[in-house]
Amino acid sequence: LADPSFSAAVISWQKTYGRHALPWQNTRDAYRIWLSEIMLQQTQVSAVLGYYARFLERFPSLADLAAAPSEDVMALWSGLGYYTRARNLHACAKRVVDEYGGVFPSDPALLADLPGIGRSTAAAISAFSSGTRAAILDGNVKRVFARTFGIDQFPGIKPVEDALWRRADALLPMEGIESYTQGLMDLGATLCTRSSPDCGRCPLQQRCVAFATGRTAELPVRKPK
Ligand code: ADE
Ligand code: SF4
Repeated sequence: LADPSFSAAVISWQKTYGRHALPWQNTRDAYRIWLSEIMLQQTQVSAVLGYYARFLERFPSLADLAAAPSEDVMALWSGLGYYTRARNLHACAKRVVDEYGGVFPSDPALLADLPGIGRSTAAAISAFSSGTRAAILDGNVKRVFARTFGIDQFPGIKPVEDALWRRADALLPMEGIESYTQGLMDLGATLCTRSSPDCGRCPLQQRCVAFATGRTAELPVRKPK
């Protein structure tokens, strides 16, 4: 499953065509990175930007957020949706203050034990804040992998998801984890989109099974009814 040319293609594409100036980039501050990753879990970048700026203005540090009344946190989240995220966000802030002295752990396994942080979000936070080699596998990345590798089973079932995690782990580069992780996110969000992938500009086109077989519209396989 290992293939250094895969990450090399993603990294070189990211350097030229990826996003480099989002407000949560160009920092290693785990608080800012964590906040962005939670907001971006089910919400597009364009909708997150204003909320992200207001949160940081009101809660400049993790300690400020942990100490705030929950009503204030919920009020600031209002309109962003998926409110469980806001409750978990506040609970997570309190736990990092209580259990880690206000400093996020860098180990993705410890991060994934905190409220609202799943395996993929833990890996993203860890990669961006400390350069840790850990694999992400969010909905966008599942779509890119399902197409590139021609996975013709629904990715929501356990054995298929396990196989995708094994691929994600095996494809990690030895260097440049930040560019690679951001590159996979950017590819999935801006190029390998759900309804109209721009294969003509894709750095994975030469190796993409869905492109080669004309199945970009069929992959990933939808949830069986
Ligand atoms: N979606 C999830 N994480 C992201 C990030 N770091 N940048 C852009 N979109 C994202
Ligand atoms: Fe997605 Fe097309 Fe690239 Fe394949 S070639 S990964 S379908 S954008």
